[in-house]
Amino acid sequence: MKKLVAVLLSLVMLMTATSALGLTIAFSQIGQESDWRTANTDDMKAGIEAEGWNYVYSDAQQQQPNQVAALRSFITQGVDYILFTGVVSTGWEEVLKEVNEAEIPLILVDRMPDAETMAVIEYVGAFGGDFVEEGRRMAHWTGNYMASVGRGDEEVNVVILEGTTGSAAAMDRSAGILEAIELYPNLNVVGSQTGNFTRAEGLAVMESFLKSIDKIDVVLAQNDDMALGAIDAIKAAGMVPGVDIIIVGCDAVKNAFDVIVAGEMNATIECTPLYSAAVVELIKYLEAGGEPSRDIINPEEFAFCVEGGIVYSADGRVSIKAADAIDERVY
Ligand code: AHR
Repeated sequence: MKKLVAVLLSLVMLMTATSALGLTIAFSQIGQESDWRTANTDDMKAGIEAEGWNYVYSDAQQQQPNQVAALRSFITQGVDYILFTGVVSTGWEEVLKEVNEAEIPLILVDRMPDAETMAVIEYVGAFGGDFVEEGRRMAHWTGNYMASVGRGDEEVNVVILEGTTGSAAAMDRSAGILEAIELYPNLNVVGSQTGNFTRAEGLAVMESFLKSIDKIDVVLAQNDDMALGAIDAIKAAGMVPGVDIIIVGCDAVKNAFDVIVAGEMNATIECTPLYSAAVVELIKYLEAGGEPSRDIINPEEFAFCVEGGIVYSADGRVSIKAADAIDERVY
């Protein structure tokens, strides 16, 4: 009993100590384009506020100038930490150097600035998905799935729905897809266009692909929202999504799981939006005198599909059956 009281007391003291830090954490978010983004925004707010810290949030509505203005406003407000993800990858050097000059610790989340900028700015931690690998996984899953259903020698026409032009997530996923698809000579990319990571634009681009391309066998959508838009377009064109056209998304959001379990979508490659636990842990570590790190931490991610059992990476990882994992999805 004494032990329990002592443990509880030290827990209370630790909680009081971290909330007594009275920190103000500011987050410059990109916008609200997708289910992933909503989950990312909600998770960050919940994680920071659970610590009793003050949370300042800015939604840039996909506009880089809005993000630049938000960062400058965070500097003026004298916040204690800035969390940042960039809508596009270039054009950040000047404002991020201003953050450095103000000596506000910068934590990069999700989409990193380009390599040139990363090399010249200071940051205390970085957490984000390995977008190139996610793209590769989309191609590996598709090539291996096609072979598994006896279509490994068939000429297969693939269209790509790209994310926001100039964003790290879109550029890197495209690079990964195009690199890995080379290993499957029967997969031919016959169209590639931006759907801006939104369901509405995914639908519109898919409609135009269906009108202009005679035969489409596979859609590789760089996020699940665009995959869901493509499904709407395929249905409207009188075809059966998931059967007449194979659909592979990225993110692994709950809405995609529902559609995969219903058989209208074939697979999704995971990209987690849940970074608040890592961010909170880092802030506590730094406040306790820990050393910043320049490593970019990539979370472990998986792939999910209708039946499971499909190899989706060069190192032989095997996909999980979506129906077996749907109850554990938190976003
Ligand atoms: O940067 C991560 C990407 O941005 C997610 O895949 C997408 O859904 C989001 O909008």
